[in-house]
Amino acid sequence: MTPEVIGAGPVRLRPFRPDDAEDLAAGRDDPVNLRFNPVGMPHPYTVADAHWWISEGAPAAWRSGGAAYAIVDSGTDRLVGGAGLSQVVPGRGQAELGYWVAPRARRRGIATATTRALAAAAFQAGLARLELLIRAENPASQRVALAAGFHPEGVRRSAGLDRDGSRYDLLAWVRLADDPPDPVPRLLPDLPDGRLTDKVVTLRRLAPADAEALHRLHTRPEVVATRVRPVPPTRADIDRRCAVAESEWLTGRAADFALCDAATGTMVGGCALVHDEPATGQAMIGYSLLPEARGRGLATRAVRLLAGWACGPVGLARVWAGTATWNTASQRVLDRAGFHREGVMRARLPAPTPGAPRPDTVLWSFLPTDPHPLPPR
Ligand SMILES: CC(C)(COP(=O)(O)OP(=O)(O)OC[C@H]1O[C@@H](n2cnc3c(N)ncnc32)[C@H](O)[C@@H]1OP(=O)(O)O)[C@@H](O)C(=O)NCCC(=O)NCCS
Repeated sequence: MTPEVIGAGPVRLRPFRPDDAEDLAAGRDDPVNLRFNPVGMPHPYTVADAHWWISEGAPAAWRSGGAAYAIVDSGTDRLVGGAGLSQVVPGRGQAELGYWVAPRARRRGIATATTRALAAAAFQAGLARLELLIRAENPASQRVALAAGFHPEGVRRSAGLDRDGSRYDLLAWVRLADDPPDPVPRLLPDLPDGRLTDKVVTLRRLAPADAEALHRLHTRPEVVATRVRPVPPTRADIDRRCAVAESEWLTGRAADFALCDAATGTMVGGCALVHDEPATGQAMIGYSLLPEARGRGLATRAVRLLAGWACGPVGLARVWAGTATWNTASQRVLDRAGFHREGVMRARLPAPTPGAPRPDTVLWSFLPTDPHPLPPR
């Protein structure tokens, strides 16, 4: 790439200049930026660090075949962020793309416009494959990736190196030169107004602050007994599940919900739609309630809302659920929510202890054409 100015909607990309230093230091010295772009990032990020980047770091990136752009406001020419290409592998026509936006300029489409424009210029310059490596805990960046035509490809285990020397996984989001530049269609859309509700229960996306309630729920013995492997999760497992719930949603793997009392907003359980068979247009649901919320029909309401969303906006052809053969309460929920009992899947689950028989599962399904007693609004 050559350091030419690139127009990107409300912003443009141009090489850094010495008078960007104050804005660069102010924009870079931000905990979110530090968390998600830790490599080689001084903390605190001073004006002296900014001058080093402008005079040494960015020119070195250009010399190595990459790119290091200031993102500037088209009207004022003031710096609002940075973007670039690194880890260029010329023999494979491949590079990594990266970006950051100053806190005061976020949520205005700047990263999305920048990524689209920089990707177009990189493909124009002959690259064939661009990678965005993103932490699962960073939904804002994954939304940028989706909006700029990048596809979720998988997990690069331990590819990230933190400031303290610890390693973490990174998700690879990839766009090829011949992929369309349009936003990538999602298997799991966002919820209307962020929730599904029938005014008695509300389902919303699971969030990091739900970890304590979810841990309490999933360590109850009767809930543990219904897990695929009947072993209680650790608090770290649950923290991670909550931290990556938005990522799982964006990549289309699972929609993980907090099940809340609509009147108080208190989380009283959880439910999920797991996209286990996208190729056949079907997905599985699961649900559980804290003991104090049982016996009031809340699980039935949640399952109806979830099945209605799955067969409506998500567009699934079939939703399925499996219950333990002994779990009459759960079977009653599915029956009342309009699911059909299809039969028994023999030895479906792993043995709970070595040498024990593999448990059977009762199979239930719901189709878009099935009567739906309480459609979600
Ligand atoms: C990630 C980052 C660059 C996004 O910049 P931005 O200019 O605010 O992004 P956009 O305005 O183009 O928004 C893109 C999408 O992210 C969403 N978004 C923005 N901030 C969000 C947040 N904190 N949580 C969830 N979604 C968010 C926007 O709503 C938009 O979604 P949509 O396309 O579904 O409407 C910015 O938050 C940032 O600099 N973060 C720190 C550095 C970083 O993470 N860099 C990427 C490392 S991989």
